Amino acid sequence: MKPTKVTLTFDNDNAPIELPILSGSLGSDVIDIRSLGKHGVFTYDPGFLSTASCSSDITFIDGDEGLLYYRGYPIEQLAEHCDFMEVCHLLMHGELPDKEQKKQFTSLISGHSMLHDQLTNIFRGFRRDAHPMAVMVGVVGSMSAFYHDSIDVTDKLSREVSAYRLLAKVPTIAAWSYKYNIGEPFMYPQNRFNYAENFMHMMFATPCEAYEPNPILAKAFERILILHADHEQNASTSTVRLAGSSGANPFACVAAGIASLWGPAHGGANEATLKMLEEIGDVSRIGEYIKRAKDKTDSFRLMGFGHRVYKNMDPRAAIMRHTCHQVLDELGLHNDPMFKLALELEKIALEDEYFVSRRLYPNVDFYSGIVMRAMGIPNCMFTAIFALARTAGWVAQWSEMISDPEVRIGRPRQLYTGSQRRDFVPIELR
Ligand code: SDX
Repeated sequence: MKPTKVTLTFDNDNAPIELPILSGSLGSDVIDIRSLGKHGVFTYDPGFLSTASCSSDITFIDGDEGLLYYRGYPIEQLAEHCDFMEVCHLLMHGELPDKEQKKQFTSLISGHSMLHDQLTNIFRGFRRDAHPMAVMVGVVGSMSAFYHDSIDVTDKLSREVSAYRLLAKVPTIAAWSYKYNIGEPFMYPQNRFNYAENFMHMMFATPCEAYEPNPILAKAFERILILHADHEQNASTSTVRLAGSSGANPFACVAAGIASLWGPAHGGANEATLKMLEEIGDVSRIGEYIKRAKDKTDSFRLMGFGHRVYKNMDPRAAIMRHTCHQVLDELGLHNDPMFKLALELEKIALEDEYFVSRRLYPNVDFYSGIVMRAMGIPNCMFTAIFALARTAGWVAQWSEMISDPEVRIGRPRQLYTGSQRRDFVPIELR
């Protein structure tokens, strides 16, 4: 029988504290510690290794089994059978759309894909060589200055309009961040394309000639978006939730999420993984880097490896590896040296005791960079594409939180280790 409560006992005469144990629909039970504060007792868990920050119906991960479900559907089935609009509808509304719902949702999103024309001026405030993620943080954050008719988070319709605007406009902002970086003119969204094709068009088309996306590559790109769409309470989603808990507008919250995702330990790992593979350069040098990854005096880590939750193969990495094969074959690059190097690196690492004992496996970022590079997407855009995909998860998680009648501002406590009380000392006496 599963326990329903736990009793906290102290090794002094403090009275024991009884805490209920809560069960979800899947996964680990949790100890409800909300009442501890009134006993003057707090918990300590930097990095939230053992702490559930919320309850959610959206995404489930089983790190030991390597499972990932969006609203109960296994990621493998969604990646195989759905397009990104269906997955966005699923994440936001809880169900896969029927034909009519899908038509309406898709039309709604494509109807919001243009940017306010004055937003183009914001891009021009950046240096040309600004990293696309820096531009995205700035431009998405500025959206609240242009779409202030939908920032009333207490109004359901406003919340929906902002969510659709973010889903629809972030791809345009991402693609334009790239166009600005390379000095090419912005390409406007074309509603005749689907979401993935439209992004590829805005990224690669020029005003000088017609552009038709390669359908195999567009499908592969759609799969990349689906794999990255949500991942429960990861660092950037937790950032969006924490920012949103103060009532901040959704554009500012998603801008905060983009900033958090940029870190190399998180969404920046795909760009860092390709840089690492390019630095390793050849299979003969893998041993040297594996050695460095194990050396505690060396800050080097094997990028694209390890995960806070997955202690088994990240299911997205396996799908991404398969997509890699498909894209490289389609492009006649099946001998791509980076892919061969990655396959060999994965094989060697998975046979090495250090990685096996720590249950370190490839994560979603290990292969995604190789696929995107093969598709002609530059390294600097990898995390921007992660951000445009994860916008679906961020708006779904933000909507779930902000529409929860019990939502409260997130305000963690701390363990204070600073000075005891002391009095001011005039500068002459210091
Ligand atoms: C994403 O949270 C999410 O869901 C994120 C994400 C999402 O979809 O939102 O899945 C996307 O961010 C994937 C992760 C991308 N990051 C990387 O690939 C960067 C490389 N990975 C590591 O930095 C690390 O594995 C983390 C950050 C991903 C996880 O860090 P943890 O959970 O804090 O793990 P840890 O640092 O406590 O590591 C445990 C042990 C340590 O060794 P010991 O102290 O036990 O001896 O494993 C070692 C670490 O040194 N370790 C690694 C390693 N990752 C962990 N050693 C070498 N190379 C690595 N990559």
